Amino acid sequence: MTATPQHGFRALTGMRDVLAPESSRRRALVDTFARAAQAAGYHEVLLPLVEDLGVFLRVGEATDVVTKEMYDFVDKDGTRIALRPEMTAGSVRALVQHKPLLPWKIWYSGSNFRHERPQKGRYRSFDQVGVEVFGVDDADLDVEVIALAWRFYEMLGLRQVRLLINSLGEHDDRERYTEAVRVYLESRRGELSEKAIETLGRNPLRVLDSKRPQDQAVVIDAPKVADHLSDEAAEHFARVRAGLDALAIPYTLEDRLVRGLDYYRRTTFEFVADALDAAQNAVGGGGRYDRLAEDMGGAPTDGIGFALGVDRILLACDAEGAFPAPQPTMDAFVVDMVGGDAARDLTHALRSAGMSADRRFGGGSMKSQMKSADRSGARFALLVGSDEAESNEVTVRDLRGGGEQRRVPQSELIDDLRNHL
Ligand code: HAM
Repeated sequence: MTATPQHGFRALTGMRDVLAPESSRRRALVDTFARAAQAAGYHEVLLPLVEDLGVFLRVGEATDVVTKEMYDFVDKDGTRIALRPEMTAGSVRALVQHKPLLPWKIWYSGSNFRHERPQKGRYRSFDQVGVEVFGVDDADLDVEVIALAWRFYEMLGLRQVRLLINSLGEHDDRERYTEAVRVYLESRRGELSEKAIETLGRNPLRVLDSKRPQDQAVVIDAPKVADHLSDEAAEHFARVRAGLDALAIPYTLEDRLVRGLDYYRRTTFEFVADALDAAQNAVGGGGRYDRLAEDMGGAPTDGIGFALGVDRILLACDAEGAFPAPQPTMDAFVVDMVGGDAARDLTHALRSAGMSADRRFGGGSMKSQMKSADRSGARFALLVGSDEAESNEVTVRDLRGGGEQRRVPQSELIDDLRNHL
């Protein structure tokens, strides 16, 4: 056993506890996402937090997410496993394992783990909500998926989110383009930052993402992916853009958008929040990944999806003053001034009748109990003093109106509250 530190244990670096009311806000956010996804025919899937390491290696062995940031370890059976860094790989593993009827439209929410350098908006444990669709090779689906994320941001009340889109082409297009970028960057190697030179060896396309001015000066003249698209890929992308235009979803064509995971083909997209610092302003991203099912040992199956970062979305909401934490609500709070039996019995009766009710333990003055009632968000305070106790009545005080109150026999209390709630 490790020794207890002098000031007690703290959550690990980059990991946070979420307490009320922020926890209620997260729940409300996921509920909002669930409503949007279910209204578009997506079903929830619950995936394990850990998988065989091999599942995640398919995400891309050249990416930082896999090579540098994975929480992987050997479990007690000697199996190499990892905490999920994202949920697309697990979704594809589930597709290959269960062979559901296609198209398979799923949504998910949950925590992911990446051993990154923590800073505001970048954590080692972070939450995502997302969708994946398998078995449809139709550009209109790309539009549906993007529109769903767009609608969700709107439902939250965010106004400063922008959509960036790109096409990386088919598998072969992407390979040819990667080679063209590699040759170009090699020719200007001397001008690149040390970090970019290191990335160039593993994953040339990621250099295009570099935010360093030194690299950007080189990247600006790099080959354009649009010049490397096959006719098919170009046509698919044109239809995606036409669909977004038809739905009046604004977008920016961003031909440097390569994304941090290796599995993308054809349409890729990212949502950035202008209210956040540029270094952490991606509040979501996704795209097509038409080869991943095969890579996992399944039949070739088209796939597309996105994941949105809950932590960053909430930071963007803070910055825009959108989607505040819901106020606590409660139907009734029992203020018992005579010894506690009424508090015990009334809260139980109210809860059994399907209402929300709370009380204070250990009694306390009327004033302090009323403070607790206010804090709970209760609509009614139910006061039981010696008078009420003697006549088997309760004083019902409306905490939201002008503080009106009435005496009600205990036997009629539930009906009375139902009539007034
Ligand atoms: P991703 O771009 O790696 O894509 O992550 C999606 C979103 O998760 C990011 O835009 C960001 O908002 C959030 N995020 C990522 N890392 C962190 C972090 N360390 N701290 C806080 N938020 C973070 C994926 O994960 C893909 N699975 C998306 C996808 C689904 N593609 C196809 N289907």
